[in-house]
Amino acid sequence: MYANSRPVSSDHTGSAVRTQCLVRRYRRHDYQRPIAVNNQQVFETLHALHARSALPLILDSGCGNGASTVALAENNPHSLVIGIDKSAYRLRRRVLERNIYRQGNLVLAHADVIDIWRLAVAAGWSLHRHVIYYPNPWPKQKHRARRWYAHPVFPFLLRLGGELEVRSNWSTYIREFSSALCACDQPYRITTVNAAPDTVSPFERKYRASGHDLHRLTAWLQPGGHQ
Ligand SMILES: C[S@@+](CC[C@H](N)C(=O)[O-])C[C@H]1O[C@@H](n2cnc3c(N)ncnc32)[C@H](O)[C@@H]1O
Repeated sequence: MYANSRPVSSDHTGSAVRTQCLVRRYRRHDYQRPIAVNNQQVFETLHALHARSALPLILDSGCGNGASTVALAENNPHSLVIGIDKSAYRLRRRVLERNIYRQGNLVLAHADVIDIWRLAVAAGWSLHRHVIYYPNPWPKQKHRARRWYAHPVFPFLLRLGGELEVRSNWSTYIREFSSALCACDQPYRITTVNAAPDTVSPFERKYRASGHDLHRLTAWLQPGGHQ
């Protein structure tokens, strides 16, 4: 990847109060967008694999080309590691059968996590770990509700539980994510991603090579809570 990525620039500086109001509103009314048929089908396969494996579950949401998911699967051989991305282009190097690629404890799926998270909550999934590496920042103020912490699906993300790790090259994203967690009484920690040569994902490699500061938020979520 290239070392020419520009830092995120935004007309938005962040507002903890606004974020917290939004999250409180979302928690009062479950997100109702209908589930797409293809996501339902993908979920049924994932659910069967999960039920059959009986292994701790690690989810890599927005996994891009799946490189981070492959590394997680190698480093956690006793977990089932599922990477999901809605971009067929990003997953294009894998042979997907009915939108799923599987090898050992690694599963990659072409689907929208907005649907998969809700189906997983309804099916009673309880994650061991959930990573969201370098989510699209949607830096423009008018696109704010597309950021995960400001999206109506956010309460479902919390209900999935597990150790949640979010990485971003935009400190506002991480700061506002932490405000959203505060509104739900969730403990978290913010750290910088250290300068070790290992990178967790292609976007991390690109941002590091471009000299960006990289930020990490870790939270420990209780499954089924946050109603
Ligand atoms: C900036 S890329 C980061 C990719 C990878 N995590 C990395 O660090 O290299 C964000 C990814 O999130 C995916 N994404 C965004 N919204 C999504 C959604 N609703 N469901 C699944 N994937 C989504 C995009 O397709 C894209 O591949």
